[in-house]
Amino acid sequence: MTLIALASVKGSPGVTTAATALAASWPEGRQVLLVEADPFGGDLAPRYAMAPTGGLSSLFAAARRTLVPEDVWDHVDHLPGGLPVLFGLGGMHQAVANEKAWPIVAGALSALDADVVIDVGRLLPNLAGGVRDVLARADALVVLCQSTLEAIVHLREALPGLAAELRGLSLLVVPAGAAQFSAADIGRTLQVEVLPPMPEDPGAAAALANRRSVKRLERTRLLRWADDTVRALGIDAISPVGSPVEGNSPGVPEEQAGADPIGAFLPNDPVDIDQPEGALDRTAMEGQLAGAGPASMGEAGR
Ligand SMILES: Nc1ncnc2c1ncn2[C@@H]1O[C@H](COP(=O)(O)OP(=O)(O)O)[C@@H](O)[C@H]1O
Ligand SMILES: [Mg+2]
Repeated sequence: MTLIALASVKGSPGVTTAATALAASWPEGRQVLLVEADPFGGDLAPRYAMAPTGGLSSLFAAARRTLVPEDVWDHVDHLPGGLPVLFGLGGMHQAVANEKAWPIVAGALSALDADVVIDVGRLLPNLAGGVRDVLARADALVVLCQSTLEAIVHLREALPGLAAELRGLSLLVVPAGAAQFSAADIGRTLQVEVLPPMPEDPGAAAALANRRSVKRLERTRLLRWADDTVRALGIDAISPVGSPVEGNSPGVPEEQAGADPIGAFLPNDPVDIDQPEGALDRTAMEGQLAGAGPASMGEAGR
């Protein structure tokens, strides 16, 4: 099955939010598991005020004995509404303590009877914290990058080393935040494939972080971006041959079978948030990188 890793190289451009939105928008008929593998710790359990019954730390403990892929489901929690999530570690001390177990855990995740969307957080030097083992099993690495000159310069600096480490793994960039540059200009500058930019959408992002409620979350710019991006990633809406579409998959409790993951975030007393159409005015930004192409961006980076 498909394993998509999401990361950043600097700052906090919205990796956890993007991973949650993508997993919640996964095509019907395909089981997905959201995994928090940020070495600095998981955010979703605290955001949802959930005391994890499992999570990565109990999975690591199990991996010390034996681990077959199906065992992963024993450590999976569910966000309200049904999205299966493997909650992250408490923090970097736990990440250091468990780093050596990552090859086994990454192997189990990649052999799971589900697609995996895995948030590996900000990439550390030498892809520390187990991220190297995850990326060795990944089908694609999606790097989120603020659409600012400095963030693009930092990413450009990191890309050659990253490409050498990844050896053939498909690397895709998602510009995030208030769009200062067009996807096309960023792609040209970095010479990488650029996915649809993640729009600024504080209301929907706050809803995904359980900080507020939003009516018709699936119609927000952020969730529509997630739909587009799942499609752009080539995740097939049709179940792969041999995978059960009917009935329960091992990770989904009986009462949550058929749950709409986006419904996970739908509140009881929703409020409307402002969703202006066409808020991402790409044409207005076209050309702002003119004169800041590879050469002048190089100057900016010096
Ligand atoms: N597309 C977005 N629009 C507006 N705010 C966002 C967006 N994505 C994330 N945020 C907000 O930015 C903060 C950091 O997001 P998070 O996903 O935790 O980033 P990261 O995982 O990269 O550290 C959170 O408060 C989140 O709600
Ligand atoms: Mg995060």
